[in-house]
Amino acid sequence: SKAVTAPSLLAMKSAGEKIAMLTCYDASFAALMDKCGVDVLLVGDSLGNVCQGHSSTLPVTLADIAYHTASVARGNHTALLIADMPFGTYATPESAFDNAVKLMQAGAQMVKLEGGAWLVETVKFLTERAVPVCAHLGLTPQSVHQLGGFKVQGKTAEGAERLKADALALQEAGASLLVLEAIPTALGKEVTDMLAMPTIGIGAGPDCSGQVLVMHDMLGVFPGRKARFVKNFMDGQTSIEAAVRAYIAAVKDKSFPAAEHCF
Ligand code: KIV
Ligand code: NA
Repeated sequence: SKAVTAPSLLAMKSAGEKIAMLTCYDASFAALMDKCGVDVLLVGDSLGNVCQGHSSTLPVTLADIAYHTASVARGNHTALLIADMPFGTYATPESAFDNAVKLMQAGAQMVKLEGGAWLVETVKFLTERAVPVCAHLGLTPQSVHQLGGFKVQGKTAEGAERLKADALALQEAGASLLVLEAIPTALGKEVTDMLAMPTIGIGAGPDCSGQVLVMHDMLGVFPGRKARFVKNFMDGQTSIEAAVRAYIAAVKDKSFPAAEHCF
């Protein structure tokens, strides 16, 4: 099939076709997910949790993400490949660009950054220099020590207004995709309807342009308690491939996320 690109994701939003995204960290899973028809693969800094066993994403380095991105790129053919920029690697526009180049050279086709209005200059700097950007708002795990834990965001009127203003500013700066994590369903819909760029939800309700889950979570491989937005797609399946196909189908037919996965 044809390569997924930033413009083709925009066309999917316009056509009302939901975007199915998964995190991925190695070549074998990339090949499997790509074969199943996943639209977007994310080398998330969640690898700090699921691959390295840390309790946050803060210890993940640029070299870690570059290593996993190169591995995923070798297995992937069609999906759009996004790499997370780790904590502390995009404090200034110049450092963000230098670090993004390393991830693009490892095979990323877009980079993801966590944060709002403070990133406007950086997003502009990157996109003017041919680095496509996915923004990330709501629960931004790199800010866990400022947020005071992994909590739902945008619940107050003030918080919701700030998130909407941030989303518009990031789009204006050149972002082409926006991950929304752990926000109320109504806010997820409002932001999605307001923006031209597609939104990808994780605990942001069924009205986002697409959905993302951490691979280990959707395969039921997690040691701790299950987050509300997680669904184990191995339930009722007899292979990992069938579970990945079930996830993609559930995103496309809008049966995932259900109310029980939303805030
Ligand atoms: O690191 C990650 O896996 C992510 C997704 C959960 C959006 O940022
Ligand atoms: Na991440």
